[in-house]
Amino acid sequence: MKLPPHLTIQNGRLHINGKDCIALAEKYGTPLYVTSEDRVAEQFEKYQKALGTRYPKVRVLFAAKANGNLALMRVLAQKGAGADVFSGGELQLALEAGMDPEKLLFNGSSKTPADLQLAVEKGIRVSLDSLDELHQLDATARAAGTVSEVAFRVNPALTVPTHPKIATGLATSKFGIPHGQIPAAYREALACKNIRPVGIHCHIGSQILDIEPFARAAEVMVRIAKELTEMGVNLKFIDLGGGLGIPYHHDTDPAPAAEDYAAKVVPIFKAGVEACGITPELWVEPGRFLVADSTVLLTRVNSTKSAHKRFANVDAGFNLLIRPAMYNSYHEVIAANKADAPLTKEYTVTGPICETGDIFAENRPLPELAAGDIIAVLDTGAYGYAMSSQYNGRPRCPEVLLKGTEAGLMRRGETLSDLTAAMEHPAWQK
Ligand code: LLP
Repeated sequence: MKLPPHLTIQNGRLHINGKDCIALAEKYGTPLYVTSEDRVAEQFEKYQKALGTRYPKVRVLFAAKANGNLALMRVLAQKGAGADVFSGGELQLALEAGMDPEKLLFNGSSKTPADLQLAVEKGIRVSLDSLDELHQLDATARAAGTVSEVAFRVNPALTVPTHPKIATGLATSKFGIPHGQIPAAYREALACKNIRPVGIHCHIGSQILDIEPFARAAEVMVRIAKELTEMGVNLKFIDLGGGLGIPYHHDTDPAPAAEDYAAKVVPIFKAGVEACGITPELWVEPGRFLVADSTVLLTRVNSTKSAHKRFANVDAGFNLLIRPAMYNSYHEVIAANKADAPLTKEYTVTGPICETGDIFAENRPLPELAAGDIIAVLDTGAYGYAMSSQYNGRPRCPEVLLKGTEAGLMRRGETLSDLTAAMEHPAWQK
């Protein structure tokens, strides 16, 4: 199986950043998320460079929803990343990670009054999803005696080749303002005293391995930019969103590089803004591309079973990685302590959750497994821990960060008392 450079097999064992996964599993216990910060930094640099060498004013905003760990976000902040934040909580994380408020965009299709208040207080630009939200933000900014800088999220009505649950720019999707209604929305924004429209935003979906849809979105966006510029909107940025996919099937998926993306999209962007006579910043919001392959989830085999097929029952389930159950997502699995043993058997790797759908990998060729073996689930740095839960009364596992071969906790494992920490007994039970 093809592996990214930070994953290697040495003496039959999977290593990450040159560090033995089995030693990590022994030291920190399983399940365990292990992340290479060097890989995250490298992916960020690729993205920044691919765009930055083609257009002078580029801003890469990390989609914080993909992985909200503070230590990891700090790595990105130190590289100069901003963030796409989708809640007050993500905004708080980005600020705590040391990101510059100037480099944040507060996105969301259903913001609370408290979200809008927070954005106004901290002076964070907002991507608006409706005219209702526009007027609420205008009132919030007026009450605070300030002017809020905004973009509208454009729904470009594009079909994209990805799982339907993560296509976000379909004409039928819940996100954004239909592109035909965009000029009217900006006209209305221009009439609001405490709103200054300064950008446009879109995001067409996630895990997209074909570059063409990004080109189509860029075309829609520069066409809108022209209309808005003629209307008198002074565009400071055009945000093309995130969505570039990664090859979860290591040997067969296409693996578009940041270079491929930039080579296709930037010329359209440049020609478009030149035609408008403006030089706005080009913003992008990658999540998965920056962090997904940085991380392995290490999980121990509790037992094996031969029934209608062979099962390996492991100690992590969809409580820790819900993508396979939720989107039928594919993740490569490797027997980390038998990494160069012949793949003589076929296993379905299942978690401990009381649901039939709690399956990480179906009918995969693996070496003969036994209780105590360690399975590494690859490419789990995006939407892995971030979507975890305590379902079935399972405390979440720790997360370890690697810088070179130095390892440190970036989140402790939860304990049984964390399960009840936020619970209360109502008065009648006391
Ligand atoms: N910007 C906006 C406004 C978004 O909604 C998203 C993702 C991104 C950027 C980042 O997209 P990325 O570069 O990571 O593809 N839980 C799903 C993915 C949901 C993505 C939602 N929005 C999964 O596990 O595949």
